[in-house]
Amino acid sequence: VDKSHIRNFCIIAHIDHGKSTLADRLLERTGTISEREMAEQVLDSMDLEREKGITIKAAAARMLYRASDGQEYELNLIDTPGHVDFAYEVSRSLAACEGALLVVDASQGIEAQTLANVYLAMNQDLALIPVLNKIDLPHAEPERVAAELERVIGFSRDEIILASAKEGIGVDEILEAIVARIPPPSGNPNAPLKALIFDSKYDAYKGVVAHVRVVDGEMHGRRNLKLMSTGAVFEPLEFGIFSPGMRPLEGLAAGEVGYVATGLKDVAECRVGDTITWADEPAPEPLPGYRRAKPMVFAGIYPTDSDQYQELRDALAKLVLNDASLVYEPESSVALGFGFRCGFLGLLHLEIVVERLEREYGLSLLTTAPSVEYRVQTTSGEEIIVDNPADLPDPSRIAVISEPWAKIDVITPSRYIGQVMDLVTSRRGQFLRMEFLEAENELAPGEARVLLEYDVPMAEVLVDFYDQLKSSTSGYASLDYQVKEYRPARLVKVDILVNGVPVDALSVITHASNAEKVGRTLVTKLKDLIPRQLFEVPIQAAVGGKIIARETIRAMRKNVLAKCYGGDVTRKRKLLEKQAEGKKKMKRVGSVEIPQEAFMAVLRLR
Ligand code: GTP
Repeated sequence: VDKSHIRNFCIIAHIDHGKSTLADRLLERTGTISEREMAEQVLDSMDLEREKGITIKAAAARMLYRASDGQEYELNLIDTPGHVDFAYEVSRSLAACEGALLVVDASQGIEAQTLANVYLAMNQDLALIPVLNKIDLPHAEPERVAAELERVIGFSRDEIILASAKEGIGVDEILEAIVARIPPPSGNPNAPLKALIFDSKYDAYKGVVAHVRVVDGEMHGRRNLKLMSTGAVFEPLEFGIFSPGMRPLEGLAAGEVGYVATGLKDVAECRVGDTITWADEPAPEPLPGYRRAKPMVFAGIYPTDSDQYQELRDALAKLVLNDASLVYEPESSVALGFGFRCGFLGLLHLEIVVERLEREYGLSLLTTAPSVEYRVQTTSGEEIIVDNPADLPDPSRIAVISEPWAKIDVITPSRYIGQVMDLVTSRRGQFLRMEFLEAENELAPGEARVLLEYDVPMAEVLVDFYDQLKSSTSGYASLDYQVKEYRPARLVKVDILVNGVPVDALSVITHASNAEKVGRTLVTKLKDLIPRQLFEVPIQAAVGGKIIARETIRAMRKNVLAKCYGGDVTRKRKLLEKQAEGKKKMKRVGSVEIPQEAFMAVLRLR
């Protein structure tokens, strides 16, 4: 195809604003896929994605479209993940495009990730096509949201397309706009090869399959290729496109989007953002913007049954084949035995990984409370990195501790400004800026939506912040965050002792001014969460060896079966089964059984 007839674009949107639904409609309208095939939402191919209704991994599809000018165009849709945890992957998908559809729900308006995505797209100089989706909803307010888009992002009213992905309204107009408003790829077909990797997946037969956008040059044949950042060299096994399944082709030319099967065994050698070039005639420098996705959130993952350790190790090894951003290393805990310390891009990433391990590999796991990565300068002048509170050195050895801070953006109707302010302040946040997204005087008091920006310690965002934000704004607020910098802080470790035994997996790092409150809340929670034993169990919180709070779990008086009056055997059996089930998620520490929820108690401290 002539390059002037190629359009590379992606769809960006806040979660649930209808990105996947619109993608489906485009595939359908261009005849890329039939309605029957559509039944299984194609672009989101992972089970979990379908279930959680969110896009986790980017995918791509090539469509052929005959436009109203009578010409046929090749439209390459690159799907982007819809969650903040994956901002880097989003930025690489955007870098592979010349334009983006910006989908905004006409009943919701601009949300935090709408703005975050717009900034990412603007950084890549993409042509943006604003689409107001869900206009079929009775409470949609397309004119109000259009005014918001004009005011906040600077679109003009006649650029904005009204659509309903569900009903297929506006789809033709969108396809025409893609052809008319998004520029064709530039790039030099005769320059040395440069192809951007925007995704990679492991395939048992073809090795790592890199999803690429060819920027300069072309790739074909069996000539060796090289990854510019890792230096890995491979002989390509196959080139092709997604339509949306893999379809082999001779090669890919400048401007095109497709895949190359590398035969490599490890996605870590073939990272998102890296540049592919010829091994014997490499490009002088790689494409800009590459960095290694860095884990931000850490947690210990342990098998509830220590016999499953080997299985857990094998399962993690398989997962990282497809997920270069997941890191793990063996760890042992006095309380939990042998497991792994894992690093994730964010909380959602953590949740997805644990769920996949349990569901796809049949493991029963215990997860410790997530932690950020602290930087500790010791009194002897060393710098150590601590991603597990249990590893924090003794207070006497610490000169300075620093913690990561994030900049957060909250969008909410202005009537909730006070609540948001209170919440952020209670999390040690600092106010930066506020901006009305709508003209206040044209709406009922408190209606106009406002953007609030704060700096907040990342650790405080991890602990239940999003849920609290939602509940204090009746669900209206949306949140986006970006890690910004490290700042020193007066942090201490609160240790928990159960029956006199310190339980390392329950330690938390907290601000010194909060330590006592955290200690007290934790022991109270644990008192409720740890079932009674045959003997009395003291639960204590300590900072640097000093006890700051204490509760006691009284000894159990009744046998569980005492509840079963008479000789109802089935009932008795059911109760015993239920108890056995509950047991699976218990961990014996010393002589006390501690349930999984106890290890997550620090997540619900407030
Ligand atoms: P992520 O993948 O999580 O980013 O979500 P998404 O933006 O892809 O949203 P998705 O397409 O999954 O749509 C979210 C919900 O909105 C689904 O329940 C859709 O059926 C619904 N939806 C999408 N488009 C429309 C529309 O035009 N009208 C109505 N009424 N509902 C829609």
